[in-house]
Amino acid sequence: MKALILAGGFGTRLRSLTCTRPKQLLPLAESTLIGYIISQLTKSGINEVILATGYNTEQLRSGLENSANSEVTLHFSVEPQPLGTAGAIKHAEPYLQDVERFLVLNGDIVSDMAYNHMLQYHQEHQAVATIALYRVEDPSRYGVVDITTNGQIHQFVEKPPPRQAPSNLINAGCYVLDSTILEQIPPDQEVSIEYDVFPQLCQSAPVYGWEHHGIWVDTGTPASFLEAHHALRGKIGKTPQIGEDTKIASSAQIASDVTIGNHVTIGNNTKISNAVIFDDAIIGAEVTIHQSIVGHGAIIGKALTLDKYTIIGDGAILDTGAVIPPGSVICPHYRIKKGACPPDCLVKNLKAL
Ligand code: GTP
Repeated sequence: MKALILAGGFGTRLRSLTCTRPKQLLPLAESTLIGYIISQLTKSGINEVILATGYNTEQLRSGLENSANSEVTLHFSVEPQPLGTAGAIKHAEPYLQDVERFLVLNGDIVSDMAYNHMLQYHQEHQAVATIALYRVEDPSRYGVVDITTNGQIHQFVEKPPPRQAPSNLINAGCYVLDSTILEQIPPDQEVSIEYDVFPQLCQSAPVYGWEHHGIWVDTGTPASFLEAHHALRGKIGKTPQIGEDTKIASSAQIASDVTIGNHVTIGNNTKISNAVIFDDAIIGAEVTIHQSIVGHGAIIGKALTLDKYTIIGDGAILDTGAVIPPGSVICPHYRIKKGACPPDCLVKNLKAL
């Protein structure tokens, strides 16, 4: 089977980390988000992958070449402008001519789905589309399905108000689609699969839901990016996860929910919890980092505190004595000097996302 990965979004909720790379090249589980997704596909025997991309194609292409997976043949379907989740699938039609059905994945979901079981379910139910579903406590941020006991979906509700959702089963961003669906998507225009295709399709054709029970994290926000690292650290069994050639002072305290990349330096008495530190970062002494992400090669001065989803862009420098309010988002390569605060435009409380 072929898989199409949707990877042309702007990743705005993960800025400033996505100012210097597409979201799919963010580090994850000793690889990148896209590297992890492709390795999961190969576990289900899928070794032909189409990447639906746009503005970010060349960076993605070279990022993937660097972590080449020889088991997989990659194609790039490049959109002239973002065509939305269904428009991107339609645009990739030339790569899907020779198959009766194919898999579609959002390129920012971390999961351990058994895609081959999902495909089998799709065929057994003679579905036109099968949507992976995941059970969550609060479905109000997601697309929710109304489903019959035999698994057929008859209604979609996007982001229902609290307590008005028809179920707790959400669209998990992974679909098996029969090729006939391509005929229903208009070419060369922006079309959303969630808003423009599925709600209508489930009224007129057999659309089924397949519930996934394992790991599932949508990595779109800083909180969920940290959560994805946490989920995979648990699976790999390394807690915390520390990269190669990383030097951590013996008095530093690194909690189990931390991922630290390669060639990182961490100073005396520094405390880090619920955080991801990218390669080559330099963290000074007596720093406190909690619920935050530090980009590639960033330098954090002595005794600073990063908290509440503070994001430090690649190569940014925070001098000792800089004032970093909780929830700050610092641009790549930006320097904040002693006594200075980031300008307002760089400080955002991302809690609401
Ligand atoms: P935000 O800007 O933070 O919302 O991020 P995003 O647009 O990257 O993510 P969103 O959750 O909106 O999209 C889900 C998936 O679809 C992501 O993997 C995106 O890369 C992808 N995607 C969204 N829009 C497009 C598009 O127009 N074309 C393509 N090829 N992929 C898209």
